[in-house]
Amino acid sequence: MDRLKDAIVPYLTQKEIKDLIKKLARQVESEYKDQEVVLVCPLKGSILFIADFMRELNLPQRVDFVKVSGTKGQTGAPVKIIKDISLNITGKHVLIVEEIIDEAKTLSFLKSRLMAANPASLKIITLLDKPARRVVNLKPDFVGKTIEDRFVVGYGLDEGEIGRNYPDIYYLKH
Ligand code: IMP
Ligand code: MG
Repeated sequence: MDRLKDAIVPYLTQKEIKDLIKKLARQVESEYKDQEVVLVCPLKGSILFIADFMRELNLPQRVDFVKVSGTKGQTGAPVKIIKDISLNITGKHVLIVEEIIDEAKTLSFLKSRLMAANPASLKIITLLDKPARRVVNLKPDFVGKTIEDRFVVGYGLDEGEIGRNYPDIYYLKH
């Protein structure tokens, strides 16, 4: 691997991730029946998750990408949109597809931003949830796995931009 290889411990295998995605896809299919959904992927951490989830999800769908400025290590820095969505979501069933929810500041900002466009519905799906770290009260509608307060890398998740390409998920040793 690279500079992270001695600092990480295996956490979720590709097979375990795949099983979580299948479970989530079945839940979302039964929620929306055959209605079209617009999947919104906040860059960059969710790229591998959305790529696998959209192929697993047996529903009519469109996909779009958004980039919100980070909130980490910048206490008080205003959250803003760096890349906005390009689809019109008014009257659409929108599903924000996140790889992990931590403090939830980014997501709550994005949620109110998308709500302003009057979607028919707006829900949140996340592969991993770290509720222990919440600073904003936000509950995702679909959760792959609730995890402890641990920093994880791999499968889109990075540490200083390293590790996004790892097929499995690891946690960082302290
Ligand atoms: P928050 O929910 O506003 O704190 O920010 C969530 C974003 O922070 C996620 O979409 C990730 O990009 C990043 N993040 C949160 N926890 C982790 C982690 O354990 N590893 C890597 N990135 C993380
Ligand atoms: Mg993310």
